[in-house]
Amino acid sequence: MQVINNPKQMQDLTLSLKKEGKRIGFVPTMGYLHEGHLSLIRCSKKENDITVVSIFVNPLQFGKNEDLDKYPRDFERDKTLCQKEGVDFIFYPDYKDMYPEGYQTYVEVVELSKGLCGDFRPGHFKGVTTVVLKLFNIVCPDNAYFGKKDYQQLKVIERMVKDLNLPVNVIGCPIVREPDGLAMSSRNSYLSKEERDSALFIYKGLIEGKKLFESGEKNSKKIKEIVIDTIKKAPLLKEIQYVELVDKSSLKPKETAEKGDIIAVAVYIENTRLIDNIEL
Ligand code: PAF
Repeated sequence: MQVINNPKQMQDLTLSLKKEGKRIGFVPTMGYLHEGHLSLIRCSKKENDITVVSIFVNPLQFGKNEDLDKYPRDFERDKTLCQKEGVDFIFYPDYKDMYPEGYQTYVEVVELSKGLCGDFRPGHFKGVTTVVLKLFNIVCPDNAYFGKKDYQQLKVIERMVKDLNLPVNVIGCPIVREPDGLAMSSRNSYLSKEERDSALFIYKGLIEGKKLFESGEKNSKKIKEIVIDTIKKAPLLKEIQYVELVDKSSLKPKETAEKGDIIAVAVYIENTRLIDNIEL
């Protein structure tokens, strides 16, 4: 496994591998890898000749009062995990090489970036799409793997790829959960034992919502209510930012729930913002 810091070197390498007919799989990450990331790496390994993982905590997608400075980082640990999984290259660029002085180009998926997390994290998805487009241009992957936990992110990236005719397949992979149901996230490392116990109410709420739908309830308001009521039982819940039932493609809120719709939530457990979702 090789660690590459320089974008041009990374690009030259993958372009020459592609010329040799190699299929490139790509897993973009912000590091502090967990089982969710490893599941993406395993998918990529299965479906490609070469797997590239990028590790870059992208300042552009963090708001002023968000957790950029305290975002967990442990490159040596990430490197060991990647090595164990048989990753071929880690792309680990510096901020100054990704956004050199004078940088001024951004890409925005206008409608899908609104609503859900977009309403609470202004500029977030513009930061995500900008860095992902740059990473795609640098790594030149055939296939790129994203987790469905960040469901809106996945939809935004799929749209960008379609709208800009990018030659990459975007593959959404299932949410990986801890045995007790908590969706894997690098931000789980912020949680104390008590906060983690409270965080379990998020998935419990989503399950209750899905159960109600499966028992025949189609009124989205009623389904959202049971999700909210369940999450409110979490002792250390600070805020529910949203509980929405949306169409799986347009992400528009629905009044009448249908199979395939998504219930998406964002909550604060004390100072940690967690998101999760479930497909009906
Ligand atoms: O999901 C993430 O970890 C990030 O948003 C991504 C896609 C690596 C872009 O910085």
